Amino acid sequence: MIEKAKEKFAAIVKEQIERVEQMKKGAEKTDYASLKPIIIGVCGGDGIGPFISKHAEAVLAHALKDEAASGKVIFKHIEGLTIENRAKHKKAIPDDVLTEIKGCHVILKGPTTTPQAGGKWPNIESANVAMRRYLDLFANVRPVRVALEGIDWCFFRENTEGAYILGSKGFDITEDISIDFKVITEQGAERIIRMAFEYAKDNNIDRVTVVTKSNVVKTTDGRFSKVAFRIAEEYPNIKLDEWYIDIMTAKLLDPARRKDFKVFVLPNLYGDILTDEAAQIQGGVGTAGSANIGWRWAMFEAIHGSAPRMVEEDRAKYADPSSMIRASAMLLRHIGFAEKAKKLDMALDLCAQAEKKVSITGRDNGATGDEFVKYLLSCLDNAELDSRWEQGV
Ligand code: IPM
Ligand code: MG
Repeated sequence: MIEKAKEKFAAIVKEQIERVEQMKKGAEKTDYASLKPIIIGVCGGDGIGPFISKHAEAVLAHALKDEAASGKVIFKHIEGLTIENRAKHKKAIPDDVLTEIKGCHVILKGPTTTPQAGGKWPNIESANVAMRRYLDLFANVRPVRVALEGIDWCFFRENTEGAYILGSKGFDITEDISIDFKVITEQGAERIIRMAFEYAKDNNIDRVTVVTKSNVVKTTDGRFSKVAFRIAEEYPNIKLDEWYIDIMTAKLLDPARRKDFKVFVLPNLYGDILTDEAAQIQGGVGTAGSANIGWRWAMFEAIHGSAPRMVEEDRAKYADPSSMIRASAMLLRHIGFAEKAKKLDMALDLCAQAEKKVSITGRDNGATGDEFVKYLLSCLDNAELDSRWEQGV
């Protein structure tokens, strides 16, 4: 059995060496300014996904109506990323769906069901995790803001490596022993850490916080931390501090200290966990959007799952689309429409955090997603958006 394990391990190592070689070659960065049309693919997903992505697409289409008319952007619907179709093909992303996705420049994606052992679906890999890997979307950027408290965080979660990259490739060595793998590479750590520093520099932020458990997980987290300190030397005006994930989760709950943090950079699983906590502080995971960015493609989504219970209980129309609308603002910024993105963020701050004239509760005592979007669009088009935002937020 040791021989068998050795063989599997050898295959894994080989794959990772090839991946590193690929990263070393570098990739060309998509230049959206020179693209016509920019193709925005929309995948509805599962559960509440089709409902909230329909709302997010309507908001995006509204923001981009001139560009759609001039042919600068087009929307393309991709139907096959449902759990039914994925289960049928026993694949995280069926081949034809992946081809369609790769034919787009950016993707707006609704949440997708992540199967688990013993559940009703075959235990295939998460579509999110697969898409991040297939498109090499190495940066998971998750902003969290609580304006009234002075919190303005931006999380840079490494999105392809860490505990995730071989998350479906661990194995049982004997009846009693299960082994999983965690991978951090020099190149993988460097590109996400550099992105965090560049963001800090561009936004005049003088501090970046790297979050690890490098005192215990010495090799992989140790490397992540070492790369961070190496990159930090290139940014003399930015101070890098390292926090361990356990105390960091506590500090996010410390009102006296938490607003001092600005930019976080962290390995995949810690980023997954810490960003849910941060989103909860902002008002719930339903309020937070997420950008998955690579050199060539980018995908924008909610940070939460598909909430099948809401569909079973016939409450999908009350689901909060804010998370995907935030993600849409990130999409706008990414493809070169920073001013439109800013306005959309302001309208969301106003509608979902400050004025809250139409309030979503997820149940029939609150507004529907449709009603919220109407309210949001009326704020977005209102000439007084800027002054209302100044007063409210
Ligand atoms: C997220 C989600 C995913 C993750 C799931 C759905 C696989 O929790 O985007 O944070 O773990 O990354
Ligand atoms: Mg998560």
